[in-house]
Amino acid sequence: MKTRNLGISAAAVCAMMSLTALGQIANSRHNFSSYGWSGGEICKPCHTPHNANTDVGFLWNHALSNATYTMHEGTGTAEANIDSRSRMCMGCHDGTVALDSFGGTTGDNFIGPGGLIGTDLTDDHPIGSDAIYPTATSTSYNPQDANHRVGTGSRVLRLRSWVDSTGTEQWVVGCSTCHTVHNSGNYPHMLRFSNASSALCLTCHIK
Ligand code: HEC
Ligand code: HEC
Ligand code: HEC
Ligand code: HEC
Repeated sequence: MKTRNLGISAAAVCAMMSLTALGQIANSRHNFSSYGWSGGEICKPCHTPHNANTDVGFLWNHALSNATYTMHEGTGTAEANIDSRSRMCMGCHDGTVALDSFGGTTGDNFIGPGGLIGTDLTDDHPIGSDAIYPTATSTSYNPQDANHRVGTGSRVLRLRSWVDSTGTEQWVVGCSTCHTVHNSGNYPHMLRFSNASSALCLTCHIK
């Protein structure tokens, strides 16, 4: 009896593990291991155990963008106007740096139209210097908590740290506020949670 219970729970654990694996990066558009340029690895285009880029942390392996952007308000640069995590995304998504520019190699495969954000950000949801989240009580925005999160329960979004030109740290909306780069929830478009009934938008905006 005891042995049989153990057998069942081991099977259940296996089933749970495979579901978890399927819900994450291996099952997402960020699994580049089937492309020749990735060396057959999943993590390597983005992370490395050694000699990482220390500007942005997270053992970053991919080349960063130095592009100039058309922001909602004037022009800006990847380095000065957006948070460091969004810089990591834009190192592929603004289309100025090749997908296979990592580990010190300069590649020549660029992102396709399905993932291209480009350098004109006027047609995208504001990020970085264009999207400083109110710290004071607002009638238009739900409050951020002491840990710079907005929302409650399973619908929590994290604001990102960005330092403005005066050296002041601001809490802003970044790409990884709305998206999870490792596809951790397995929601469409790699969102943090489902945007059914615009739940994601309404986490911040009072409308
Ligand atoms: C497409 C790029 C990309 C790929 C591929 C990728 N990551 Fe990441 N990873 C990131 C970014 C960007 C961050 C920074 C945190 C954030 O913004 O979510 C990060 C953060 C992390 C962190 C620290 C924060 C956390 O979420 O725990 C770990 C650990 C990590 N990645 C592990 C991995 C492993 C292991 C793999 C391969 C199985 C992998 N990543 C593949 C982009 C990537
Ligand atoms: C190493 C290059 C690289 C990095 C770094 C990277 N991406 Fe991507 N991403 C891609 C490619 C390539 C695609 C697939 C585009 C296509 O289908 O044409 C993609 C697809 C996506 C998609 C579409 C997913 C879907 O299922 O529709 C989202 C959302 C996304 N990326 C967000 C991010 C965010 C947010 C970051 C940073 C936290 C990031 N990416 C970092 C290369 C990258
Ligand atoms: C305010 C939330 C929010 C922010 C910030 C945000 N996105 Fe998205 N993104 C979304 C939503 C929602 C979708 C799905 C749109 C839809 O339903 O077609 C999406 C879709 C995408 C797609 C897939 C495009 C497609 O047509 O399927 C990519 C790639 C992407 N985002 C990348 C990024 C990158 C890179 C950044 C940072 C520059 C970013 N996103 C910032 C909410 C956001
Ligand atoms: C994490 C919080 C957050 C989320 C989630 C969010 N927004 Fe925003 N949104 C902001 C902030 C902050 C601004 C910038 C306000 C400013 O500085 O003018 C903004 C600006 C906007 C604007 C004004 C853009 C302009 O050009 O003036 C629109 C429209 C908008 N958001 C719609 C959406 C929609 C639709 C969604 C869901 C897909 C969404 N937002 C999700 C925080 C958020």
